[in-house]
Amino acid sequence: MSDRTMRRQVLLFFSVICLSSALGQVSYSIPEETAKGSLVGNIAHDLGLEVKQLLARRARIHTGDSAEYIQLNKEKGLLIIKERIDREALCGQTTPCALHFQIALESPIEIFPITVEITDINDNAPTFQKEEKNIEISESAVIGSKFMLDKAIDPDIGLNGLQSYTLKPNDNFIIKLHSQSDGFKKVEMILQKPLDREKQEFTSLLLTAVDGGEPQRSGTMQIHITVLDANDNAPVFTQTVYKASVKENSLKGTIITKVSASDADKGSNGDVSYTISNSMIGTSKLFHITEDGHLILEGPIDFEKAKNYEIDVEAVDRGGLSDSSKVIIDVGDINDNSPVINMISSSNSVGEDSPSNTVVAVMSVNDPDSEENGKVRCVINKNIPFTIRSTSSNFYSLVTDSELDRERASDYNITVTCSDEGVPSLSSSVTLTLQISDVNDNAPVFERSSYEAYIVENNTPGLSIFTVKARDADWNQNARVSYILEDSSVNGVPVSSYVSVSADSGVIHAVRSFDYEQIKDFHFRVKAQDGGSPPLSSNVTVKILIQDQNDNPPQVLYPVQTGGSLVAEMVPRSADVGYLVTKVVAVDVDSGQNAWLSYKLQKATDRALFEVGLQNGEIRTIRQVTDKDAVKQRLTVIVEDNGQPSRSATVTVNVAVADSFPEVLSEFTDFTHDKEYNENLTFYLVLALAVVSFLFITCLVVIISVKIYRWRQSRILYHSTLPVIPYYPPRYSDTLGTGTLQHVYNYEVCRTNDSRKSDCKFGRAGSQNVLIMDPNSTGTMQRIQNEKTTSDLKSVNPPLVGLNSY
Ligand SMILES: *[C@@H]1O[C@H](CO)[C@@H](O)[C@H](O)[C@H]1NC(C)=O
Ligand SMILES: *[C@@H]1O[C@H](CO)[C@@H](O)[C@H](O)[C@H]1NC(C)=O
Repeated sequence: MSDRTMRRQVLLFFSVICLSSALGQVSYSIPEETAKGSLVGNIAHDLGLEVKQLLARRARIHTGDSAEYIQLNKEKGLLIIKERIDREALCGQTTPCALHFQIALESPIEIFPITVEITDINDNAPTFQKEEKNIEISESAVIGSKFMLDKAIDPDIGLNGLQSYTLKPNDNFIIKLHSQSDGFKKVEMILQKPLDREKQEFTSLLLTAVDGGEPQRSGTMQIHITVLDANDNAPVFTQTVYKASVKENSLKGTIITKVSASDADKGSNGDVSYTISNSMIGTSKLFHITEDGHLILEGPIDFEKAKNYEIDVEAVDRGGLSDSSKVIIDVGDINDNSPVINMISSSNSVGEDSPSNTVVAVMSVNDPDSEENGKVRCVINKNIPFTIRSTSSNFYSLVTDSELDRERASDYNITVTCSDEGVPSLSSSVTLTLQISDVNDNAPVFERSSYEAYIVENNTPGLSIFTVKARDADWNQNARVSYILEDSSVNGVPVSSYVSVSADSGVIHAVRSFDYEQIKDFHFRVKAQDGGSPPLSSNVTVKILIQDQNDNPPQVLYPVQTGGSLVAEMVPRSADVGYLVTKVVAVDVDSGQNAWLSYKLQKATDRALFEVGLQNGEIRTIRQVTDKDAVKQRLTVIVEDNGQPSRSATVTVNVAVADSFPEVLSEFTDFTHDKEYNENLTFYLVLALAVVSFLFITCLVVIISVKIYRWRQSRILYHSTLPVIPYYPPRYSDTLGTGTLQHVYNYEVCRTNDSRKSDCKFGRAGSQNVLIMDPNSTGTMQRIQNEKTTSDLKSVNPPLVGLNSY
């Protein structure tokens, strides 16, 4: 019902009242809650009575059972309010609300019905029974969902009654009123915009009920709305991609990272669990994710196998909503790999003449680690003539960097050590044994810069004199030294006829017997040559000094010993003591002590008359010559040298003690024909015969020998590489017929292959044929022959061979 309709009805009502009062029934209208004592109406007037009459007639109000709200003021003829009137208490919702009573008058009794209508005033606000209300609404509630609200109650009626409701705030809901049959209105709240618990879980609305009075009154009620969760939110990862890193070789159970997804829902709808949804092959065993999002290492990881991993993770809530994200795990390298050295090629030996930068070995070095851990540096041991170079990445070559010398170091152990730059650094090494092969770069070197050797004359041919030695620092064949006698000549004769050198041992042999009196020293060169190709050589000077032996007896020069002549020294009878008769002059071709001569008187006719100077050989008288002394004096002087053993020569000196020559001559006639002389003469005759015979035979032999020799030599020249070197060493040659000198010619044949092999073949002593002739006239042949067998033959023995002549 609209307000206007209500007012019209009220107007109609008042006109009815007025009409009725005109018909004898008095009606009044007062608003409720009018103050006590307020005037309701002038009843006296309205009833047409005098005030006095009211008193007089004892007017009174009759209400029946009802309480008296109205009082009659008889003095003034007025109706006034006795009690406050609450219309709502009096009538409730009934309208109109009126007090019905009568005014009774006595004398005459008259009853006047009075109606006092109580009109409503807005003295009540709408009120709710409860001050607040809780409503739980699921956030999934659909638009248009209805929720009943409590009604408010306003006891006032009409316009003063409850008019409308408002709801604030009204974002999500509107109020809808439904009129009901009982006249009350049903209040509904309708969802017009979806709720979102995640946005606002709790909302308080204020429901206000207002009436239409003037002033308007209202009542409120709090409506607490709790939005119930629905699983309307999927989990959301905090990052679309997670980045994490883990060191290789980390222990199982290491937490790599934590992923997290948030779910806006509440309770179990917001419980998120994590799984690894898919991953690269093989990685599922490596990682594990816990319910709460910790990504945990499960297996061994190796940077060298995989540098990173990509894992898809999924977050699922209880409602099955999910989100996915990716975890990229970078594997951090640690230095867990040593460098690996691979020898690509290497040589076992290198020549000592190799130039610098000769490549000895090539190797590759790898370290699978990364960055510094994989950076490798290689070094080799110090103080060796090699260096290591990096040719290209990971390749190294070992090269020589200075001259090699096998003689200083014949092999090297080269240790290549490669280490990476990780901390701590890892390294590995390899050792290469390199032989330095020999090159013939060293000439043989003699132990001494020159040699001097002594040999006593009359040595045995073939005697080893001494040894030269040269060393060669090279190896094997390059160090095999051969000794070669260098060609030179000594006194016009090739030196090879004096000495030979053993090629292997360096032993120097005398090829012949040396004679100090002929040659005192000589020198030659010996070359030492190694077996290299080309060979290297050096040479040394060898000086041979021949030492004297007492092999020559003294030789008397004066007085000259002639066979037939008569030589005598004259001593006048008047000669004084110490008269120098003569001087025996002798020489000894030996030297030193061997040539130190002393003179002694061996035999004398009169020992008391002469003496010989020991040193000077002077024969002097030692007493006065007397007449009794024989004219013919014969002295035998022995000349001895000082050698060991000493050798001697004797000389006979004839002395004539006379004053005149004829005296001497007569005395000496038989002197010449003495027995000894005859014996000598006979001996010489026999000897001459023998010599002639021998010469004849010798000539025959020589002729035949020469023939055979030429024939054989031509054959040897064709069929043999052995040169035959005949030589004829000269022995001491003396044409003087004096003294005890021997004339011996030895023809020695020495066959050699070459000068390097001392291969002289000497004949046996038994095959020698020695003929000695001593032409001295002193008749000492027998002794000399004896001496020959003891000394000369001894010195010649054994190697005299072939033909001996003189
Ligand atoms: C090299 O090593 C070997 C074996 O260890 C050793 O016999 C040799 O003497 C070493 N050579 C050098 C030059 O150190
Ligand atoms: C011997 O050696 C010297 C240097 O020591 C050299 O000058 C000379 O030529 C060499 N002689 C021969 C014949 O080889």
